[in-house]
Amino acid sequence: MTKKRVGVLISGRGSNLQALIEAAKAPDYPAKLALVVSNVAGAQGLARADDAGIPTQVVDHKAFASRPGFEAVLDEALHGAGVDLLCNAGFMRLLTEDFVTRWLNRHLNIHPSLLPAFKGLNTHARVVEAGAKITGCTVHFVRAAMDDGPIVAQAAVPVAPDDTEDSLAARVLAAEHKLYPHALRLVASGDVRVEGEHVVGISRPEGENALFSPPLPGTL
Ligand code: GRF
Repeated sequence: MTKKRVGVLISGRGSNLQALIEAAKAPDYPAKLALVVSNVAGAQGLARADDAGIPTQVVDHKAFASRPGFEAVLDEALHGAGVDLLCNAGFMRLLTEDFVTRWLNRHLNIHPSLLPAFKGLNTHARVVEAGAKITGCTVHFVRAAMDDGPIVAQAAVPVAPDDTEDSLAARVLAAEHKLYPHALRLVASGDVRVEGEHVVGISRPEGENALFSPPLPGTL
């Protein structure tokens, strides 16, 4: 098996990066992390990559007058590391249409909601505010519009009546850490592909057909 070489873009904590690092340790995992790039110097995720022996690079967007200038250096770093697939993991920069087109259908993002609901920032606060009963997380292919693009995989997380932004964020994050390695495996192995603007090739999920919140009577 030829492993796909993955570049991970981060801006901060890097807990999703850590989940990918752990998953990629399995000999049968179809991806190898080749480079971690942060647009923020000192991001915690850089230390995680260092600890795992993965090359890192800081490309500070503030050092560039324009977005294309920043992206040219980013692209150069990714190509220099022979990256085949790109994963945003808490990467807090919007990318231009040009960059997105260059990496089209080879570029994933994780967002902490069931897209297309609750795009953008402060997701969990808005979910709690809306009184939503189920939220979750989504891994999708990147498009130029924020948090948009063909959906690879999602996990549903029930919202508890006493949830705060923080308690909900913690439970969704735990689901993210399982979902991202799963989604990257599907993409890197070639088991799924984009057709039109849908991801196809995924077999029917096993188990329960639906997650109910509140639970159906008799299921607790
Ligand atoms: C995650 O919740 C991710 O979904 C969102 O930003 C957060 C990044 O966390 N895009 P981490 O840096 O992976 O810990």
